[in-house]
Amino acid sequence: MGESEQLVLGIDVGTSGTKVVAVSADGKVVATRTAGYGMSVPAVGFAEQDPDDWWRATVEAVAGVMADVRLQGRAQVAAVGLSGQMHGLVPLDHAGRVIRPAIIWCDVRTVAQVDWLERTVGRERVIEWTQNPPLPNFTLTKLLWLRDCEPESYRRICHVLLPKDYVRYRMTGELAMDESDASGTLMFDVANRRWSEEMCHAAGTPREWLPPVLSSAAVAGKVTAAAAHQLGIPEGTPVVAGAGDQAAGAVGLAVAEPGLVSVLFGTSGVVLAPTAEPVRDPLGRLHTFCHAVPGLWFAMGVTQAAGGSLQWFRRRFGEQEELAARSRGLDVYEVLLDEAEAVEPGAEGLVFLPYLMGERTPHLDPAARGTWMGLQWRHERAHLVRALLEGVVFSLKDGWSVIAELGLRADRWRVSGGGAQGRLWMEIFASAVGAEVEVVRAAQGPAYGAAVLAAQGAGLLAPGPAGVEAWYEPGQTVAPNPDWQERYEKLYPLYRQAYQAARGVMHGLHAFQERRQPLAAGA
Ligand code: XUL
Repeated sequence: MGESEQLVLGIDVGTSGTKVVAVSADGKVVATRTAGYGMSVPAVGFAEQDPDDWWRATVEAVAGVMADVRLQGRAQVAAVGLSGQMHGLVPLDHAGRVIRPAIIWCDVRTVAQVDWLERTVGRERVIEWTQNPPLPNFTLTKLLWLRDCEPESYRRICHVLLPKDYVRYRMTGELAMDESDASGTLMFDVANRRWSEEMCHAAGTPREWLPPVLSSAAVAGKVTAAAAHQLGIPEGTPVVAGAGDQAAGAVGLAVAEPGLVSVLFGTSGVVLAPTAEPVRDPLGRLHTFCHAVPGLWFAMGVTQAAGGSLQWFRRRFGEQEELAARSRGLDVYEVLLDEAEAVEPGAEGLVFLPYLMGERTPHLDPAARGTWMGLQWRHERAHLVRALLEGVVFSLKDGWSVIAELGLRADRWRVSGGGAQGRLWMEIFASAVGAEVEVVRAAQGPAYGAAVLAAQGAGLLAPGPAGVEAWYEPGQTVAPNPDWQERYEKLYPLYRQAYQAARGVMHGLHAFQERRQPLAAGA
């Protein structure tokens, strides 16, 4: 292993931080760093980030990785790949300056703009042009919110980028996007893999605001001298187009053929099934996006708060476990999971709906709310955690149920993400879907997928599915527990009923809260 050994870097611009991995030419992760940032919530349903924070974190994490790599005597970076949180609106002015903080994927302030699209353009036409229905998460609705609520900012827009593409812009000076991430803007003709002139026209979005779209492994730019100085990688290093985090995650798991299904337990939770042509749910409950692998698409169900539900619980109620973890030298999540493991499946008659940030699949309901249903005097915190873990799994199973309704099959399941590292949660998942699942190391997430795409762009890996599979290392399998499986078969229908039963109250609470705290400009 010497100076001449080639490396690729994968950068994932996530919601809580930017993760960078350096991967050797035989697919081994040789260094990794993460640098964090916050999210501001200026009003209920709002979620914003400062694009400068993404850049600062990228510089910190890349420079850190490069320092580690040099210590190991390896320095040749053949290419860089980018992955990132999807859907976020980064508006730039004529000089490429950020106009206002980015409105990110989990922001659901744009309910009125979704209504406007449905009324004036029509849901059917939006689906026909983009394969997806109007939803508050998608970039176009955020753009329309600026039009309606911050006309001053809207007037200054010259370019629209997504989070990872802003980082690329700072690295290379190039404006570009890839097909998988463009799919989540609601301005992209997913079936034909190009911008939708019709959609842009109908929404009044100038087409010239949108950057060129490339396939994921294509080189989109080269690192500038100024960025090279900050990042510690050579000027001229190629940067490939990369992918939205879900497509990049699927590449990291080598989920690049129909029949394989990837499940991500990140802050949000995702069930993703590749298809040989765009497959869409007539009710619009799934996202139909381009894959990062040429010639493939995928159908994807998203639950808004998967790992996010457990993170929320830990922050709000996990003080006791924090203390226990500190004294036992453990991670707080291990303590929470240990406690939940002692509780029987079904948490003695408790159901949790994980709709802390509204819900996408299957309800498409930004006004959905989280709840525990069935609380009794005897329940303790551990029951709440057990029900929370099960509720998140059921919300993912909901996503799979919609995909299965379209006739897609799951021959093999690959599960990844921070939440997948706890065995209990995986056993609950395997039992709820009634199949053996392969749990893939956390290292093979979106940043790793971005590195695979970089290696394809640099010619270190073959293009297409063959290159995507070359570095894949199978994970450990987790089998369903027959007793739990039987209980979950009984509990899942109750979970489904719980939302239907509570929906009216959730909407009433949403309206009640809105009257006190309007979802309006600058609120
Ligand atoms: C996908 C989605 C999330 C974000 C953040 O549609 O909204 O996965 O990309 O990770």
